[in-house]
Amino acid sequence: MTEPVPPTRRNRASLTYKLRYAAKNPDKIKPYLARTARDLKLRLTSRDHVSYYRAVMKSDAARSPEAAVGSRSHERWLRLGQMQFDYLLKHGLKPDDRMLEIGCGNLRAGWRFIDYLDAGNYYGIDISPDILLAAQNTLVRQGLGDKLPHLTLVDDLKLRFLPSEHFSVVHAHSVFSHSPLDVIEECLSNVGRVMVPGGIFDFTFDRTEGAEHHVLREDFYYRTETLTSLAEKYGFAARFMEDWEELPHGQSKIRVTKPA
Ligand SMILES: C[S@@+](CC[C@H](N)C(=O)[O-])C[C@H]1O[C@@H](n2cnc3c(N)ncnc32)[C@H](O)[C@@H]1O
Repeated sequence: MTEPVPPTRRNRASLTYKLRYAAKNPDKIKPYLARTARDLKLRLTSRDHVSYYRAVMKSDAARSPEAAVGSRSHERWLRLGQMQFDYLLKHGLKPDDRMLEIGCGNLRAGWRFIDYLDAGNYYGIDISPDILLAAQNTLVRQGLGDKLPHLTLVDDLKLRFLPSEHFSVVHAHSVFSHSPLDVIEECLSNVGRVMVPGGIFDFTFDRTEGAEHHVLREDFYYRTETLTSLAEKYGFAARFMEDWEELPHGQSKIRVTKPA
């Protein structure tokens, strides 16, 4: 009998994986084919990855903003936001921290950060206008207008419009799992400027211990060393967060710290 391949060694882009998966999950074949057709169309019509992914978010958010950020039900949306919030709280988040959330989506975790932080201390950015409109609805639903959060549409991760040495905490959950390496590098090469000395940047990623690969242009799998080396190239100390692995979440987390 062959040993089952652990999730971190699976190559989801390989034909063998796809055929096995299809045999075990026949109900997923039709949605996968629809995603493949969308992928082909968007690759032909999008000038770069950001416009490609913006179009993915547009079509997904039109169906359900909560599903577009990866939650199949409202309960899961609430739980996943709580998990992100609790984790940072456990790691010392304080109300006077100034937070930048990259890829804030419809504020699954963001609304909890906004509620907790001092007014004006939350800044969310995203490439998708559709999900930012859904984020405004979340603010209204949670009655958080008085906290004056910033929500800004971006075209890239150069962060040129933000001040230097301003944010003590930067957070990106399930964003690099949808990003090619040049987008991650653009972020890591620019984010240090807007962080205070000693500030932290936590991001999740889909981890592989085998060959790096991607499924369509939507899901990207990286080795930990690829991302820690990239962060170190831009002057950060990088750490794999072992305690995040204990949580019921498929992605891994790296924390990069700007030298004090
Ligand atoms: C899976 S959702 C997660 C949203 C949010 N972080 C959460 O946990 O609910 C990924 C989000 O990242 C955004 N995104 C993807 N690539 C981005 C990029 N290069 N810059 C900024 N946002 C990006 C998407 O539009 C989407 O809202």
